[in-house]
Amino acid sequence: MWDCSPFIMDFSPGVLLLFSLLCSAAGQAPEVSVEPRAATVHQGESASFRCQVQGGAQPIQLMWKKANNNNQALPDNVKTGPDGSVLTVATAGPENHGQYRCTAVNSAGRGAATAVLNVKYAPKVHLTPAGPLRVRMGDPVSVECRAKGRPRPTLTWKRQGSTLQLVTKETNDVNTIQWAAIHQDDSGIYICQAENNEGVTEVKVQVIVVGQPGAPVATVGTTEMTVVEGQTITMECEATGSPPPVVTWSKLRAPLPWKHSMVGGVLTLPSVGRQDSGQYICNATNTHGYSEAYTQMEVESPPYATCLPDQARLRPGDALRLQCLAHGSHPIGFEWSREGRASLPPGAHATKDGTLSVAHVKLGDSGTYKCVATNHVGSSEALVKVIVKA
Ligand SMILES: *[C@@H]1O[C@H](CO)[C@@H](O)[C@H](O)[C@H]1NC(C)=O
Repeated sequence: MWDCSPFIMDFSPGVLLLFSLLCSAAGQAPEVSVEPRAATVHQGESASFRCQVQGGAQPIQLMWKKANNNNQALPDNVKTGPDGSVLTVATAGPENHGQYRCTAVNSAGRGAATAVLNVKYAPKVHLTPAGPLRVRMGDPVSVECRAKGRPRPTLTWKRQGSTLQLVTKETNDVNTIQWAAIHQDDSGIYICQAENNEGVTEVKVQVIVVGQPGAPVATVGTTEMTVVEGQTITMECEATGSPPPVVTWSKLRAPLPWKHSMVGGVLTLPSVGRQDSGQYICNATNTHGYSEAYTQMEVESPPYATCLPDQARLRPGDALRLQCLAHGSHPIGFEWSREGRASLPPGAHATKDGTLSVAHVKLGDSGTYKCVATNHVGSSEALVKVIVKA
């Protein structure tokens, strides 16, 4: 075997070339490159990549694989030439998109290079549920539109016979059309359109709303609210139907707070407390039936802190243990400090749940200790007088 690298520097270029050829012939692993390194095609077009040997001892064997394909065989429309150097993708489809790796092997080792194939394609659209959809008046309804395509398509919903784009909920590759309570006049055909540079794809869904005309439909202004103790809250409920429905509010498994008032579908709760948390139900009733809609309310309160004990008399060497207690919305954090001092006595230990302890107090530990309890609504403090006397 040749060992040439230490000598190369001293030769003129011509000699160096000769030398490196001799070296490569004697036991170097293959070096390969691919040409082109990347190709972009439309669906149905073809692409080829050539794997070129740059160096290495012969014989060299070439092999193409799709990267990240768990070593599966190439699909039927991807072929390699007789000597393994040319990879051809005929009538490319979305599944051919990805990286292709050419690996060269000889007796000394292996070398590899990667090519990228970009397959652009017009959107493919899928609706869930696919329809036709028979729904009851007043029911919540939603239809998800999912699309694949490259480049990534944009999604819009329209109603057949209208050019207006509907307001929908969009997350990642899903665009959802939804009704909190569907009406008779929402019956019709809805179209999800997916568009990219490669084309436009439309899929239709038929929505059929069944139910008596004139039956009530209740809709609340907000389905969930988080409020702070002491606030005055209003909840709105709108109802359609003929004859006009009577709207009432109630609370799930509990009576309405006694201070409440109800005017024209609007429920007012002055100065709410934590016990007022819960589910509120709007009920719209007429001769055809009734319809319910719900609002979930959580009332949060700032902490109220107290200390146990609120005064401590000790002798030097005694153990001090103070507990700070608080009620209010969780989580609540506690922090101990000492009034008029920058820090707690050395050896003082405060825990997450609000205790402060000192194993052996000294005369100088006398003073006023303060606990501050904090949650995300507010904070509260409590004081303890500690007297250490011999
Ligand atoms: C709504 O009203 C209907 C008819 O008056 C009644 O049957 C139903 O129980 C009510 N719902 C609630 C939650 O009060």
